[in-house]
Amino acid sequence: MSEDETWGRTVPDEGRGTVAEPKVVLGVAGGIAAYKACELLRRLTESGHDVHVVPTASALHFVGEATWSALSGHPVATEVWTDVHEVPHVRIGQSADLVVVAPATADLLARAAHGLADDLLTNTLLTARCPVVLAPAMHTEMWEHPATRENVATLRRRGTVVIEPAVGRLTGVDTGKGRLPDPGEIFEVCRRVLARGVTEPDLAGRHVVVSAGGTREPLDPVRYLGNRSSGKQGYALAKTAAARGARVTLIEANTGLADPAGVDVVHVGTAVQLREAVLKAAAEADAVVMAAAVADFRPADYAQGKIKKKDGEEPAPLVLVRNPDILAEISAERAHPGQVVVGFAAETDDVLANGRSKLRRKGCDLLVVNEVGERKTFGSEENEAVVLSADGSETPVPHGPKEALADVVWDQVAARLAG
Ligand SMILES: Cc1cc2nc3c(=O)[nH]c(=O)nc-3n(C[C@H](O)[C@H](O)[C@H](O)COP(=O)(O)O)c2cc1C
Repeated sequence: MSEDETWGRTVPDEGRGTVAEPKVVLGVAGGIAAYKACELLRRLTESGHDVHVVPTASALHFVGEATWSALSGHPVATEVWTDVHEVPHVRIGQSADLVVVAPATADLLARAAHGLADDLLTNTLLTARCPVVLAPAMHTEMWEHPATRENVATLRRRGTVVIEPAVGRLTGVDTGKGRLPDPGEIFEVCRRVLARGVTEPDLAGRHVVVSAGGTREPLDPVRYLGNRSSGKQGYALAKTAAARGARVTLIEANTGLADPAGVDVVHVGTAVQLREAVLKAAAEADAVVMAAAVADFRPADYAQGKIKKKDGEEPAPLVLVRNPDILAEISAERAHPGQVVVGFAAETDDVLANGRSKLRRKGCDLLVVNEVGERKTFGSEENEAVVLSADGSETPVPHGPKEALADVVWDQVAARLAG
């Protein structure tokens, strides 16, 4: 980095003169996925971020200095001994608005967790006072090793956002958990973390469970009773919680949506399967948010073969039985006294009155009530709701992106967990 180097560019801003571009440090550690960080770098620079790349010496075995320098428009250093007069080992971290490391190797996680400062990237991690996002990528065995688990837990406890790796093809012929999430997904996490502008993510060290989608109750091998829930609100909750530092378990039913980065996803189909998955995950969760539309009833019988119409015969009446009331159950039998439980209610009329009565009946802490209809809520990218609280407060959330509603929910959950 040379003396005339500008760290923190300004760009013209209509009507207000100039505005500073957010300053991002992109750390790259020596994993096979280092090449994917080029795409992340591109997305960051093209969306108006001033990015300094700090690769480790190992990372340069995978992608060379010239690539990082050309794509970022800044010189690149690996060691603390380059341009010593500028004290880069302190200055880069101090001036950053966000540090993201992708991929983060098992080695880098260990060094960060233990506070080592043996190269420029680890020095930067120690001097940064901005949010830090780590996107680990490694073989499944390395990710599951108790040493790595403990290092990740330590980093999360300190407020670092550690994105869960994806499941898929690893180096060579292996597949499993440990793959670097899609650069677009990592970019989204960075964007959300920067947008919140907080240095200490308020859900750091917390484990939250979110259910999303709609259950399907099978009648025969080809038919089911279902509902219109798209799962987008639940996914927005999962993504925003991950960006706020939480470890997230997302239990999804029939959404068809891609697994979000940074989240453990459990796929289920029916209400009974959803209950089982929620109870298991809730056993060690700080908060459970039930955004899935769970069928109240299921067919009493399941036909092993496709139900056929018979000439001259009316169809047999459909007999339904009640499904378990998962929200009421987890509200009544909390895994620990401080666990926060949030429900969702989709109502077509008397929205608030029905919501208040549901909140009392279910015994949860918060109930997010929204009005549904043919073109409202289901499948939409936007939502409008009122968050009702067991203490009597009501927080209207105006029409806007589902992420905005998700953030209001997490604000209230975080406040309860802190209190
Ligand atoms: C071909 C190859 C691929 C590697 N991929 C990974 C990886 O994906 N994740 C990981 O944690 N380590 C991986 N390693 C091992 C790291 O490069 C090694 O632990 C190194 O010390 C990491 O240094 P760094 O953390 O300073 O970047 C790989 C090594 C080689 C030779």
